[in-house]
Amino acid sequence: MKIAVAKGDGIGPEIMAAVLHIFEAQKVPLTYEYVDMGKWVFDKGFSTGMTSEAQATIERLGILFKGPMETPKGKGVKSINVTARKVWNTYANKRVFQSLHGVDTVFSKAGIPIRITVLRENIEDTYGGIEHMLTQDVAVSRRMITRPGCMQFLRYCFDMASKQQTKRITCAHKANIMKLTDGLFLDCFYEIAKEYPDLKADDIIVDDLAMKLVIKPQDFDVICLTNLQGDIMSDLCAGLVGGLGFAPSANIGDVISIFEAVHGTAPDIAGKNIANPTSLLLSGLMMLRHLGFWEDAATIENALLYTLEQGQHTGDFGDKSTPALNTTQFAEAIISNFGKQPTQNPVPSLPNNPITLNIVAPKEFHMLVSPLHDKETVAGVDLFIESEAQPGEVGEKCLQHPGEKFTLTTLSNRGTQVWPKGSLFTNCANVYTARFEKKGDKIRMQDVLDLIQRVSTDFKVCSYELLEQFGETKGYSLAQGQ
Ligand code: NAI
Repeated sequence: MKIAVAKGDGIGPEIMAAVLHIFEAQKVPLTYEYVDMGKWVFDKGFSTGMTSEAQATIERLGILFKGPMETPKGKGVKSINVTARKVWNTYANKRVFQSLHGVDTVFSKAGIPIRITVLRENIEDTYGGIEHMLTQDVAVSRRMITRPGCMQFLRYCFDMASKQQTKRITCAHKANIMKLTDGLFLDCFYEIAKEYPDLKADDIIVDDLAMKLVIKPQDFDVICLTNLQGDIMSDLCAGLVGGLGFAPSANIGDVISIFEAVHGTAPDIAGKNIANPTSLLLSGLMMLRHLGFWEDAATIENALLYTLEQGQHTGDFGDKSTPALNTTQFAEAIISNFGKQPTQNPVPSLPNNPITLNIVAPKEFHMLVSPLHDKETVAGVDLFIESEAQPGEVGEKCLQHPGEKFTLTTLSNRGTQVWPKGSLFTNCANVYTARFEKKGDKIRMQDVLDLIQRVSTDFKVCSYELLEQFGETKGYSLAQGQ
């Protein structure tokens, strides 16, 4: 079986060499096609951070094993790591955090074992990176959460949880505040939960999760989150088990999957052969299991656990009174421990059963669309207008423009109503949201465009958003205080 390998930047080549050396010593039947991605590819002028040959290879082979990569700062280019996850629709990011005997943490010292799987939606949310400056003072990020995207991701979560005989699957969210975006994610979670009656499905507000993870991490099993919240919570979980150096990461898609360490390129220690290869190795073991090399993964993981139990360590962790191994020596120590079992949590070995990777290139883009159940109507429009004037003055001017079809119902600023009623204690920035609701039965797009044209005689209209309604359900939020 052939996979694509990108060595990465900084410590990437060193830890990748160590991991592939361990695979070779175990005679894992994989061959590698190296691809060009990362900093030097950006530096050569490829704005995506990968060559077209690299893209073609990864799309042909379906599996990418990658080292950490640096995104040049301030050059207007997007992170290669995020681009890779999004372009190939690796919609589920899976990270497993478990206590490792030999890696001391406050929890291991207290005898509290941790094994938490964090599943993070990997495509949507603020990671869409759809950002605009409306004025010099006001930046906006569009946080898109889609029903089919959530369903695709959450179906994977439930499927994975039921296969690994999880007892509890928890959805973390902020649906109490972000009622439409996180609310949609939560609705999808419970919709799919109905198909898995054997799993205990529950939900928790993400800030409460942060506190409970620190107090009682052993209570959690599988946690599903949206992209940004998942990013933050997974680093919190890494901290619970000893840091990013012990956290593996898989980006799973229906066709292409990417396996990588969660830490970065560690430029401060690059080229010194002292980096810890454990995170990349654990990610590689997730990849071996994904491909069906169960026995190889178990042998290597047990050897790693045994090595850690023996107190062998690289410089970034472990007992400072015993000398640290360098990257190569640490890999050799693991290889010399093949066949040994750790005293705590040995991994059961199943026979290898390699999957067949059947990569069929799609002929067109796959459209993710859910069937529409409720009648869609437009109830009005929010216009985002620039003004430094007082709300009363802005309201007076806007009142001259609704025409026959609309009523001006409210002005809000930074999400808080300031007209017709409000509090003088509210501070305003120079973008108002003027809500125009429809008067009659139906409005057409042309009515909205005519309204924008009229309002534009007094203000710069920076942006607009239709007020959608599906059946009786409003597809828009109310301003605070409305
Ligand atoms: P970092 O994870 O590279 O380093 C943070 C600290 O952890 C440093 O002190 C480093 O020496 C240490 N460290 C990290 N990995 C280690 C290892 N395997 N062994 C021993 N010590 C280790 O984070 P930082 O400094 O914020 O980012 C550096 C670069 O990495 C940036 O260009 C960033 O964009 C990139 N990055 C790439 C990621 C990826 O490829 N998935 C993820 C995160 C950052």
